Parts: sequence; structure tokens; C-alpha cells
Amino acid sequence: EPTEPIDPAEPVTLPTRRAAGCPFDPPAGLAELRERAPLTRMTYPDGHSGWLATGHAAVRAVLGDPRFSSRYELMHHPFPEGAPDGPLPPAPVGDMTGMDAPEHTRFRRLLMGRFTVRRMRLLTERVEEITAEHLDALERQGPGTDLVEAFARPLPALVICELLGVPYADRERFQRHADTVMTMDVAPEERYAAMTGLQEYMAELVAAQRAEPSDDLLGDLARDSDLTDEELVGIGGFLLAAGLDTTANMISHGTFALLAEPEQAEALRSDPDLAPQAVEELLRYLTVAPTSVRSALEDVEVEGRLIRAGESVTLSYEAANRDPARFPDPDVLDLRRKATGHLAFGHGIHQCLGAQLARVELTVALPALLRRFPTLRLAVPAEEVPLRTGMNIYGVHRLPVTWDTP
Ligand code: HEM
Repeated sequence: EPTEPIDPAEPVTLPTRRAAGCPFDPPAGLAELRERAPLTRMTYPDGHSGWLATGHAAVRAVLGDPRFSSRYELMHHPFPEGAPDGPLPPAPVGDMTGMDAPEHTRFRRLLMGRFTVRRMRLLTERVEEITAEHLDALERQGPGTDLVEAFARPLPALVICELLGVPYADRERFQRHADTVMTMDVAPEERYAAMTGLQEYMAELVAAQRAEPSDDLLGDLARDSDLTDEELVGIGGFLLAAGLDTTANMISHGTFALLAEPEQAEALRSDPDLAPQAVEELLRYLTVAPTSVRSALEDVEVEGRLIRAGESVTLSYEAANRDPARFPDPDVLDLRRKATGHLAFGHGIHQCLGAQLARVELTVALPALLRRFPTLRLAVPAEEVPLRTGMNIYGVHRLPVTWDTP
């Protein structure tokens, strides 16, 4: 019997505070937990006990095992802020991350064929144009800007709008709602209000697409799928929101990390072939989507421990991506390393559907920015860059930068 005796003095709570002066490292205490045990008892904010997986192999094992469910209403919320008492309400229609097979399989199949590597590579040229337009505008405007507002946020928003067929001019109507929907640490009522706002907006678009389908992804789904209006609204809103904060923070926080390591930035600037592997390493090193949660549907043994049916497991992607058993010298940013196998996009049936799109955006945007502004630097001391501490997508709120004009 591999049952671990449960010592009530042992359970930990999820560390969320990062050490001062370490904006790129996971919260203090996570590494020690991983060293002690890759899978440990954890107490949830509502008092329930479950598990925390910090080791790469343990996280991967849970993600690949169909005996663990992704349904929200079975899980406990790992963050204290905004956590309702007890399990979460069910996922809204179309939110794929909260579905299990076979419900999930139906949505995933519909979308997989439309998010192919080939289709995303075809988008590269448009991503290059959008990137160049923004860099041109910055150059015209002259030194000094907040890179988040001027570059990191508009780029993914424009790209997903084009892909889906959502008018970018409507950004005001969806971006704020989208940000809130993707934030688990706001009060549940606030999240649901944002979800409703996003769905009202999407419902108008879906009605228009049903009447006259466009060539974009939404039109394609409106014409050639068996999705109901409600499902199309749900999945459209989810796709619109899923790639905004994640990609934006990889661009801005990735830039911050590169500015902190000038020799790494120089390597990327001078060697265009380095970009794809540099992006994988930045994804690993920064892990802007730091955690996910699953719940056991039956008793499951993982790494010699018995997880009981009904217990939640919090998966720390950021701890797993710094596991020395998987990545030597894990706390070093080394753009030349082979960071394949990182869990920044998750793993298993819910592995990020937009991963290829995100890779295209990052591979284009980061080197282009560094090359256009070779003297790019922070405009404030590094300690003054406001960090997205305690939010479920990590990164920076603003990135004040400047550069020299030639
Ligand atoms: C799922 C990260 C960009 C769409 C996920 C998951 C992670 C992730 C970790 C799995 C969640 C879990 O395990 O519960 C990221 C990161 C991105 C990014 C770090 C940027 C660098 C995008 C983009 C899209 C997208 C651009 C575009 C539509 C999705 C979707 C899912 C997902 C639809 C759900 C897949 C499913 O449940 O089957 N993402 N993502 N993501 N992501 Fe991304």
C-alpha cells in the first residue's frame, strides 16, 4: 500500500510571494518544497486539503492521466484572493479548459484542424507586418514609452482579431472583459459579469456570422460545424480571451528579462537562427501561466503517493519548469539551451491550442524589437517595474523603456 501517512502539521499553502529583487523567479519557497517532495500535501484557502505538485515528472504525470478531471466544479481554488468557499461553479459554455473527454474532444477536434502548424506559419507574414507597423510608430514618436500598451498588448489582440474575424476597432468592448475573464483571483461575481459582457459582444458577432459567414475562423465555424449559437458564442469568447494576457506578458516580461541580461539580448539580436529556441527558453524561464488545477476522479497513485478520489491537485508549472532533475541549472536564462519539454503550455489533452500561434508571435516580435532599438533599456530602476504579483497570469503591468535616437 503506497499510502502516505497524512501528517496534519505537514500540509503547505501555495507560495505566491516572490522574493524582492527576483522578478523572474517563482515565488519564494517553491524550490524548497520541490526539493522536499515533488508532490506534497496542500491546504486550500477554503480549508480543504489536497495536493501540490512541483516536480516536473509529477506535474506531467497528472496532466497525462485521464483519471484527473479539469471540471471546475470539482476543484478547489488555489489562490486566497476572490476564492469562493468550496469548489468553483461549472465552467461557462465553450470554456475548454474546464471540460473532460468526450465533451472536450468534440471542441478540440473542431479547432485542431483550424490551428495547424501550417496555418499558423502562414500567419507569420501578417505578424511581421503588424510588428513592423508598431515599431515604426514607436520610432516616429521618439524615445520613451510603456512597452506594454504600445507593443505587447496590441500585437496579440490584432492577431487574434484577424484570425477570428473580430473587428479590432471593438477592442474597447472586449479587452477589459477578456482580461477579467482570464483572471481567477477576482471575486467570482466580477468574473461572471465580465463573462456576460464578453458573451453579449460575441453574440452580436455570431448573429452576423450566421447571416453572412466570413472567411475567418468564426465564419468558418458558423458555416461548417455543428456548434449551437450558444457554443459558438462561448468558444469565440474563450478563443478571443485565451491568447491576450498570456502572449502580451510573454512579450513584455520577456523583454524585461532580456534587458536584465544584456549578453543574452545581444545573442538574440545578432543571431536570427537563435529565435525559435530562445523563445522556448523564455517560455520555460518565465512560465507566465504559473499554475493549473485538476481533481482526482478515483484513487490514483502518483510518484508513490496516493491521491484520493475527490482531492484537488494544484500543478505548479513554474516550479516544474525550474526542476533541476529536468533542466540543468534551471534558474539560469540560457537562450542556447534546448528547453523542449517545458510545461509553459501545459501538457496532455489541454495543452495550449494556441501554442504555435504564440510561438510565431514571440519569434517575430522579440528579435524585431531588439534589432529596431539596439539601445533599448529600462527607463526606471528595475525594482520600480510593477509586477503582476498574485495574478493568475504573471508578468508586468507596465514596462517603461527608452532608447537613443541615431
Ligand atoms: C490552454 C498557456 C497563448 C489558446 C493553455 C494552457 C496553458 C496555456 C498553460 C493549459 C491550461 C491548463 O493546463 O489547464 C499559454 C501561453 C501563451 C498562450 C503561455 C502565450 C505565450 C495562447 C494563444 C491562444 C491560446 C495565442 C489563441 C487562441 C488556448 C486554448 C487553450 C489554452 C484554446 C485550451 C485548450 C484546451 O483546453 O484544450 N494555454 N497560452 N493560448 N490556450 Fe494558451
